[in-house]
Amino acid sequence: MPAPSKAPAVNAELEKIMSTSKSLPELMSRMVEKLNELMLKYNWVGFYMLEEAPGTEPMLVLGPFVGAMTPHTRIPLNQGICGAAVSTGKTIVVDDVNSDPRYLACSLETKSEIVVPIFANSKVVGELDIDSHFPAAFTPEDKSICEYAARLVGLFIERHPA
Ligand code: SME
Repeated sequence: MPAPSKAPAVNAELEKIMSTSKSLPELMSRMVEKLNELMLKYNWVGFYMLEEAPGTEPMLVLGPFVGAMTPHTRIPLNQGICGAAVSTGKTIVVDDVNSDPRYLACSLETKSEIVVPIFANSKVVGELDIDSHFPAAFTPEDKSICEYAARLVGLFIERHPA
């Protein structure tokens, strides 16, 4: 018998966080903690937000995260799986990071990764990045949970313009 879907319970927890967070940093911090707590294979969970300033190269800047410190605190859009997800506006799932030439290593233990772009008002504003110590950790169900989390962050930004 297949394992029961975790998505409804996880999505409900994420919705609760969204409706009780008072700021974007609070929402993002609580989400990464919750995903790391509930999803045992999500070993590093963090946000990168897109920084665009006139006259400077667009950059992904590390936001709230749980897990080991990463050397990649600022990632140009033409680098890494992170840069590829934001440039294409599409979720990227990598089952074996060591066989993907785009991969920027964060921890030697990382085996697989998912990166989901965040859209607000139809524009990409950042992304949710999750690493796992397990190969091929991200199933279609994980993809749907992570895309739901990213959508909630996008909605929060739309409802609370800076
Ligand atoms: N692996 C990412 C870099 C970020 S760290 O995993 C936290 C990439 O290839 O873009």
